[in-house]
Amino acid sequence: MAFPTERPRRLRSTAALRQLVAETTLSLDDLVAPLFVAEGLSEPKTISSLPGQFQHTVPSLLAEVRELYHRGVRSLILFGVPNSKDELGSGAYDANGIAQVALREIRSEFGDSMVIMSDLCLDEYTSHGHCGVVKADGTVDNDATLELYVRTALAQVEAGAHVVAPSGMMDGQVGAIRQGLDGAGYLDTVILAYAAKYASGLYGPFREAVGVEIAGGGNRKTYQQDPANRRESLREARADVEQGADIIMVKPAMTYLDVVSDLRRELDVPLCAYHVSGEYAMIKAAAANGWIDGEVVALEQLLAVRRAGADFVLTYFAKEIAEVLQR
Ligand code: PBG
Repeated sequence: MAFPTERPRRLRSTAALRQLVAETTLSLDDLVAPLFVAEGLSEPKTISSLPGQFQHTVPSLLAEVRELYHRGVRSLILFGVPNSKDELGSGAYDANGIAQVALREIRSEFGDSMVIMSDLCLDEYTSHGHCGVVKADGTVDNDATLELYVRTALAQVEAGAHVVAPSGMMDGQVGAIRQGLDGAGYLDTVILAYAAKYASGLYGPFREAVGVEIAGGGNRKTYQQDPANRRESLREARADVEQGADIIMVKPAMTYLDVVSDLRRELDVPLCAYHVSGEYAMIKAAAANGWIDGEVVALEQLLAVRRAGADFVLTYFAKEIAEVLQR
């Protein structure tokens, strides 16, 4: 009987050997924790579709950041949930808007020991739930929105954000923000562009988390990308890099690993992916039913994001997984 000469199994025989030959790793340095802070709460509020995540008060947010820091997570992205909303989303660029208040507190406690990112969009702050200014005919006005994004960027940077992360998918948003920041002397602010962001069904739990309902049962298909498109992401990402993006993002993660892989190959800026609320919720729900091992699947998915070529990942699992990675 002839023995097989190709024996890949040899390298799988012990855990230490498997680790030695692993092509990809996931480490604490690869995790960014998304956090929600809400105005006017007296105590943190659970989010039913995101078990383990909260709408924080400013004090509970600071406690959560301390816990993340303690577990070795050194990066966060903040989303603000205002008390009242209006047509133009003014809470987003108000110096006393909830995100700005929280950013100031985080920056003053943590200084440069954490990377403080701020999501930059209007949807949490607009009464109609769209990511920009809505015209009389109900469509979103690209260029009028850019001006408000610039004001939001300045408010966030003045409050202490190291990184602003425009997520609204308006054309030219990165260039406008870069120009606005440069003009105000903020030459060192990092722009993390949500470069390839798809109109996904996986943002559902996030919308509960930030209390966003799109008016008239609407959607974001006129500004977020069509899931059918792959090449288009390269065009979006190239445009963002040309306009001054320092880091680019693909969102969601698991359904767009082909895009992550493309952007890794074609561009040389740092690349990340957002493992979004629906991706977290699906794992949590199946695990709660005892159908999958949530921790195993979470690690597998986050590693897959790294394997596809992302340098880091935004994930609601950051705190939980940090404990595993520390062990
Ligand atoms: C827009 C924004 C969204 C998310 C991040 N930034 C929602 C949307 O585009 O509708 C979704 C994140 C998630 O689902 O975890 N401000």
